[in-house]
Amino acid sequence: MKLLVTGGAGYIGSVVVQRLLAEGHTVEVLDNLSTGHADSVLDGARWHQAELLEVGQILDASFDGVVHLAARSLVGESVSHPERYWHGNIVATLALLDAMRSAGVRRLVFSSTAAVYGEPAGASIAESDPTMPTNPYGASKLAIDHMLTAEARAHGLAAISLRYFNVAGASGDLRERHDPETHLIPNLLKVAAGEKESASIFGTDYPTEDGTAVRDYIHVLDLAEAHLRALAAAEPGAHEIYNLGTGTGTSVRQVIDAVREVTGAEVPAVEEPRRAGDPAVLVASGARALKRLGWSPTRDVRDMVADAWAALGHEVRTPNPSTRPQASGDPA
Ligand SMILES: NC(=O)c1ccc[n+]([C@@H]2O[C@H](COP(=O)([O-])OP(=O)(O)OC[C@H]3O[C@@H](n4cnc5c(N)ncnc54)[C@H](O)[C@@H]3O)[C@@H](O)[C@H]2O)c1
Repeated sequence: MKLLVTGGAGYIGSVVVQRLLAEGHTVEVLDNLSTGHADSVLDGARWHQAELLEVGQILDASFDGVVHLAARSLVGESVSHPERYWHGNIVATLALLDAMRSAGVRRLVFSSTAAVYGEPAGASIAESDPTMPTNPYGASKLAIDHMLTAEARAHGLAAISLRYFNVAGASGDLRERHDPETHLIPNLLKVAAGEKESASIFGTDYPTEDGTAVRDYIHVLDLAEAHLRALAAAEPGAHEIYNLGTGTGTSVRQVIDAVREVTGAEVPAVEEPRRAGDPAVLVASGARALKRLGWSPTRDVRDMVADAWAALGHEVRTPNPSTRPQASGDPA
């Protein structure tokens, strides 16, 4: 297929591009480098440094589909500047849908997020669970999901939304390089590398086994694989939604243990109060993705930490089976 990847200079987008090229697809990248990096655009892909709003100048009937990852994705910023999320995510995606309709490009895979669910009712989240985002970032992604449902029904788009849980890990040199970095694993690795004095544990009084928040971490390579399957599975006139996680919850303390084990560093951690709006447990049910896409993740948190540490040029310590962190939660 000939595919346009929006956000292909970003963390996840660059790994998706890598997998698409490896499968023999023709790939063009649209990215404005607002949070991405020019050196993350792989040689085999043609790159357009452009705004998503200008996508109509790039997309034509020669494309078979679009993988749409470009977005603003900082929860805190979305609360202080919601207008950036309405413009950058909703309005820009509308421009993409208009361009796709005009060019007759009928296949779309969209990066949605677990943030659409807000504060979940149960420990394991299914796609049919209520969507009640607690911030404008999640609300903007949910609005786009609604747009895709209507676009598929009215104009025959083949659309799939992938609701990622907590993405981590690296593929070779392709790794997380966000600024500011809000994600746990890259921040812990900064501490392990001596670039930061200590890590923060936000909340130690959650109703979880060790009192810290539990999340579902998914390796970026497993995630990229799901995009290939989604591109193949998308059906004209239908909008399907899939949660992408491992179905296994890992607490903040368990992630810290994994980082200590992989790096051999002490990783001092400071206990701080809970952050507003952080749910105790967010774990995906992977049942639908397994059933309909035949997709299931193969890598665990230790693999994510090890690959991210290796991507920074460090040596990974050999695993000691007796000290592997015990995961808790709901296996998919
Ligand atoms: N990283 C995660 O854990 C996670 C979890 C859930 C969902 N997501 C979603 O996955 C997608 C990719 O996330 P990421 O972590 O790789 O982020 P990222 O910031 O590394 O990548 C986003 C890319 O999109 C580009 N971009 C943003 N707005 C643009 C615009 N208007 N026009 C053109 N290019 C634009 C940026 O320059 C960047 O290269 C996002 O849609 C995000 O909301 C990520």
